[in-house]
Amino acid sequence: MKKMRSQAWFGREGRDGFLYRSWMKNQGWPHDLFDGRPVIGICNTWSELTPCNSHFRELAEFVKRGVWESGGFPLEFPVMSLGETQLRPTAMLFRNLASMDVEESIRANPIDGAVLLMGCDKTTPSLLMGAASCDLPTIGLSGGPMLSGKFQGRDLGSGTGLWQMTDLVRTGGMKVEEFFEAESCMHRSKGHCMTMGTASTMASMVEALGMSLPGNAAIPAVDARRNTLAQMTGRRIVQMVHEDLCMSRILTREAFENAICVNAAIGGSTNAVIHLLAIAGRVGVPLCLDDFDRLGSSLPCLVDIQPSGKHLMEDFFYAGGLPVVLRELAEAGVLKAEALTVNGQPIGKNVAAASCWNREVIRTFKEPFKANAGIAVLRGNLAPDGAVIKPSAASPHLLQHRGRAVVFESIEECHARVNDENLDIDENCVMVLKNCGPRGYPGMAEVGNMLLPPKILRMGVNDMVRISDARMSGTAYGTVVLHACPEAAAGGPLALVQSGDIITLDVPKRLVRLDVDDNTLAARRANWTPPPLPDRGWLRLYVEHVQQADEGADLDFLVGGSGSHVARDSH
Ligand code: FES
Repeated sequence: MKKMRSQAWFGREGRDGFLYRSWMKNQGWPHDLFDGRPVIGICNTWSELTPCNSHFRELAEFVKRGVWESGGFPLEFPVMSLGETQLRPTAMLFRNLASMDVEESIRANPIDGAVLLMGCDKTTPSLLMGAASCDLPTIGLSGGPMLSGKFQGRDLGSGTGLWQMTDLVRTGGMKVEEFFEAESCMHRSKGHCMTMGTASTMASMVEALGMSLPGNAAIPAVDARRNTLAQMTGRRIVQMVHEDLCMSRILTREAFENAICVNAAIGGSTNAVIHLLAIAGRVGVPLCLDDFDRLGSSLPCLVDIQPSGKHLMEDFFYAGGLPVVLRELAEAGVLKAEALTVNGQPIGKNVAAASCWNREVIRTFKEPFKANAGIAVLRGNLAPDGAVIKPSAASPHLLQHRGRAVVFESIEECHARVNDENLDIDENCVMVLKNCGPRGYPGMAEVGNMLLPPKILRMGVNDMVRISDARMSGTAYGTVVLHACPEAAAGGPLALVQSGDIITLDVPKRLVRLDVDDNTLAARRANWTPPPLPDRGWLRLYVEHVQQADEGADLDFLVGGSGSHVARDSH
């Protein structure tokens, strides 16, 4: 029988064995639990400051049931939790920090296998990244989306509804009292955002990568079947430990290719690009920005769900959920059907019998919801290392556009000037936002979908071309070019744009170009100075070491992994 890693703690004799076991026994654990059975760490991102994960203590109890049933010994532990809506300046600033907490907590403790409880946007990539750097048998469990928001007799989607109502209030189309009332109508149950924002996208990525049991992406948080899935997850992780089914056997190049294709087919978030690149970096799978365009951009979006469509995650679940999308992709020959998943089966076999119960919500590959829906990667002298756009959330008439730049040096300047009726801007201009990349706004804020000027909204125009080095919320929409690399704060060409310059966007040609001659740009570059470094602490470490978005925005010294071996092991 395989000797468990945890026996290097609990299986010891003498003083060390006493020390490792005795303090644990203050929780009432009987001696035979330390006999060499698999110890399962339940890595929990529960926090009342992360409302999307506030039900995770209950969910962990169902995981424990399953672990006990399979003969394991479950031990729940907390890691840094990242609440998207509360953390300032942006939760993304702390994704890599949380991943370090996860990696070191798993490696340093007597754990044979891990269950990752993930929900709100950054909790999923941070846990996958940290666990991947340890490479123990590991299984993911998402917390599930909230029930559909309901307001004034209609659906109200997380984030997406907020952006729409904000514009209505700004133009006098909605009373402020109604806006306040919508707060409790949008989010009325436990769970994460119920649009296909970043959280639901990443829960789908977990399933597409093969890192969860089938069905993980869409079961609502409050549906009893989410608890059933948790129990089955607990049962399965014990078996995975016995089979030594480590993360690196699941997270293969094929698995990442499947994730890219699924992201296109669900109309997923642009944030998935950065997170998948970072996770791949931890397991040493070669993945680059161009893979997203090459593999995903010509694929159709099958799912009619906000922000690209009109339905919500609850509808997606009732229609059959992600297994239906995976089956469509498998039958179209797109899915790498042999990719191994955590249940020990290839992904194609898992979904072969998946049935669709509502073709309005999940379309077929032959008659999709939108064609050519995956992320497009743009290049040109404005983004030599690449920028991304989500065509499915853009206005078709703006995908080829030439316009005059209106430049904001920071998001604060944008907020200060965008409502000014005297701002020199019309609907054909290109809004440019600088200094919001990984270094410039440490953490790379989700501000790329700048608010449009009220005078433009009043004309009935609700989209303009916007370009920045920022990210965008997965719940947002519009003709928004994001993640321009290198970013302005790293001296990228975006730093050199001035109001009045002409910019060309041609998505079919994958081009984003600043129509300014090289001599002029060289003169502007001579006058550019980089922003000062933060004084101290995490912010300093982050800015000094963060990669650019096209590499996943991980810290350069965290790429790769150290495995689960503990270098020095005595007290
Ligand atoms: Fe947590 Fe959207 S704010 S998932």
